[in-house]
Amino acid sequence: MTAVTTGTPTPTPSVGRAHTRIEGRDKVTGAARYAAEVPFDGLAHGWLVLSTVARGRIRAVDAEPVLAMPGVLAVLDHRNAPRLDTDYIGLLGTRPDPTCAVFQHDRVPHRGWPVALVVAETSEQAREAAEALVVHYEQEPHDVGFRSGHPDAYALDSHGPAVTEKGDLAAQLAASAVVVDAEYTTPEEHHNPMEPHAATARWEGGRLEVIDSNQGATWVVGELANLFSLDPASVRVRSEHVGGGFGSKGVRAHQVAAVMAATVLQRPVRVVLTRRQMFSLAGYRSPTAQRVRLGADADGRLRALEHGSLSLTSTVHEFVESSAGAARVMYDADAHHTANRVVRLDVPTPTWMRAPGEAPGSFALEAALDELAEKCGLDPIELRLRNEPAKGPVSGLPFAGRNLPACFREGARRFGWADRDPRPGLRRDGRWLLGTGTAAASFPAGAAPSTATVTAHPDGGFTVRISAADIGTGARTALTLLAADALRVAPERVRVLIGDSDFGPAMIAGGSMGTRSWAWAVTAAAAELLDRLAHGTGIPPEGITVRSDTAAAIGALPPAERHSFGAQFAEVAVDTATGEVRVRRMLGVFAAGRIVNPLTARNQLLGGMIWGISMALHEEAVRDRASGGHVGADLAGYHVATHADVPHIEAHWIEDHDPRDPVGIKGIGEIGVVGAAAAVANAVWHATGVRHRSLPIRPDRVLTDTGGARPGTRTPPDGGAPDA
Ligand code: MOS
Repeated sequence: MTAVTTGTPTPTPSVGRAHTRIEGRDKVTGAARYAAEVPFDGLAHGWLVLSTVARGRIRAVDAEPVLAMPGVLAVLDHRNAPRLDTDYIGLLGTRPDPTCAVFQHDRVPHRGWPVALVVAETSEQAREAAEALVVHYEQEPHDVGFRSGHPDAYALDSHGPAVTEKGDLAAQLAASAVVVDAEYTTPEEHHNPMEPHAATARWEGGRLEVIDSNQGATWVVGELANLFSLDPASVRVRSEHVGGGFGSKGVRAHQVAAVMAATVLQRPVRVVLTRRQMFSLAGYRSPTAQRVRLGADADGRLRALEHGSLSLTSTVHEFVESSAGAARVMYDADAHHTANRVVRLDVPTPTWMRAPGEAPGSFALEAALDELAEKCGLDPIELRLRNEPAKGPVSGLPFAGRNLPACFREGARRFGWADRDPRPGLRRDGRWLLGTGTAAASFPAGAAPSTATVTAHPDGGFTVRISAADIGTGARTALTLLAADALRVAPERVRVLIGDSDFGPAMIAGGSMGTRSWAWAVTAAAAELLDRLAHGTGIPPEGITVRSDTAAAIGALPPAERHSFGAQFAEVAVDTATGEVRVRRMLGVFAAGRIVNPLTARNQLLGGMIWGISMALHEEAVRDRASGGHVGADLAGYHVATHADVPHIEAHWIEDHDPRDPVGIKGIGEIGVVGAAAAVANAVWHATGVRHRSLPIRPDRVLTDTGGARPGTRTPPDGGAPDA
C-alpha cells in the first residue's frame, strides 16, 4: 500500500487557462491514427456502389463478371446481404433512421443510394471492381425540386412541436405601425469534415469490434446492436481520433456495410467513403424557405412575430431542419406563431449540421429584425434590447441566465458601433462600398446522462475513462483540465481516455452538449474519489476506481430556458461593379457559461464565425433537377471560405456564471455560426442599400438583386438558378 498523497496542496486551477491540445504533437507528427489508418492483419476492403438513378428499383446486379476480377472476394447487395432489424426505438426515441439500413430492398430512394458493396483484397481492387459493376434499374420519375409553397409540405415535430401559436396574428399585424413581411432562403449545405467517414469491422472472440470515426462510440454500439440483433455488450466501437464531425458522424451506411461484410467473410473489412460519396451518404443541411412577418409599434416593440420554415427530407426518413425554433427563444410578441414544415423529395436524407435549425433560422429572423430596425428608424441593437423577453416566449419558463444585452454592449464597445451612421450606401473606399451589421445568437445549453470512471493510482496519477469523442474540438484537453481541478492536481497527473464504448454510455459530441455532459460525469466521479481517498488508508496496486452516472442529477434539474447567447458584428466591402463581397472584419461576443480552455474555445468560436462567412457568401450545393445528383460534389465545386476570405476576426466572451448551475459550462460548439451569416447580410445591406434575402450572396445576386422582391417571387435555391 502506498500512502495517499493526492489532494494537497491545491495547485493553481487549470480551468480557464490556455492549454495546448494533449494530442497536438501526435496529430502534427502523424502519430495520431484516424479510423482508416489503424493497421489490421488480414484486412479486406469494401467499396460502396451508389445508384446512378434518382428513383426506381434495382432490376439486376451483374455480379458474376466482377467476382472474376482480381482480388474480389464478394459482392453484397439486396439479394444476399444479412437481414437487419429496423423495428426498434433508437437513440432519440424514434424509429431508426433507415438511411443506414442498406441492401434490404430493391428500392432506390435517391441518386447516390448504396446498392452494393464490393469487397476485395486491396482497396484499389475493390474500387476497380465497384466501378465495373453493372446495375440495371427500372427508373421512375423523380422530384428533387425544393421550392416554397410545395404542395406536399406538411408540419413535422422534431425535438419540439412543429407548430406553436399564441395570440391573434392578423389582428396584431393590423394594429402594428410597422410591418416586415419577407421570404428568406438558404441553400443545401454540406458538412464534409476533413477526415472522411471510415469504419473497420471484425469479429474477435465472439465480439464485434469496430474502429470508426464517429461522434459517440456508445451511440454507434446501440444502433449496430439493434440493427444486427446483438447484445450491446458484445459490440465494441472505438474512435480515438476524429477529424471533424459537425453532425455528420453518426451511424451511416458504411459502418453497416463493413459489419455485414465482416460477418459474411469472417475477416476484418474496412469501408471508407470518398469525398464524392460523402455528398450523398454523410447527410447535409436541407435548403430552407422561410417567411418571417414582424409587426411592431413605432417604438419597435413587437406585437406580432411569425416565423415559418420549410425544409426538405428524403422519402426514407423524416428529418426536419427546425429553423423556426430560433424565434421561440429570442423574441416575444402579443401574437407569436412559429411552424416547421417539410416536404419529402427524392433526395438523400438530411441530418444535423452544426447549429441545426439555429443557423438558417437565425439568418432569416435576424435579417428580418434588421429590416424592422430600418423601418422603425431604430438602431438594430436598441431594437433588440427593447424586445428582451422576461421569460421563454413560448415555454413561459424562466431563463437560466440571459446575457444577450451584455454581449451587445461589450461587442458594440469593442467593434466601435457607437459612431455608426445607420443610413445605407454612404461609405466608400475606392471601388468598395462599406457597411457594418449585427445580429444576435443563441443556442441551447443542454446536458444528457453520462457515465465516467476515475481511477487513483498508487504513484499519484489518475486515469479518467469516458466514452467521449474529440472531433477536433479539444474535448480531451478540456476534460483533462476539468478532471485536474476536480482532483486538485496538476493536469500532468491526469490521463484522460476517450473514444471507447467499453467505458460505458455517455453523451455524444453533439448538440453543444458534449463538454457540459461529460464534465458533469467526470467531476462527480472525481469528487467521490477524493472523498473515498480522504477516508481511506491507501491505494492498492490496481488503484481505486469510482464510477459516476449523472442520470439522476440531470433529471433533477429544474426546467428552465438554458441557452448560450452572443452578439455578432461584421464589416463588409462590396464592389457593385463585379458583385464581389469581402468581409473585412468580424467580432463576436458570447455568454456561454464557464470557458474551460480559452485556447480551444476561441478556436471553436472563430470556426463557427468563419462558417458564417462561408454560409453568407460561398456555400451552396447545386442539385441537378434532371439527374437528381449534385453538380460539383467535391470541395472544389462546393465553395467554402478559405484563408483569403477570412479577415481579422475576434471572439470574446463575458462572465456568464450561474451559481445555481451544477456544471457552469454551457457549450460552444455551435453558437459561433448562429447569427453570423445574418450579421454579414445586414452589413451588405448597410453597404449597398440592397437586401439580399437568399444565401449565398453570390456576385451575380449582388449584380442583379434589387432587394424589393415580395414573398413567393423568388426562384428557390434548388438548382442554383439566379433569382427571378
Ligand atoms: Mo452537431 S450538428 O450537434 O454534431
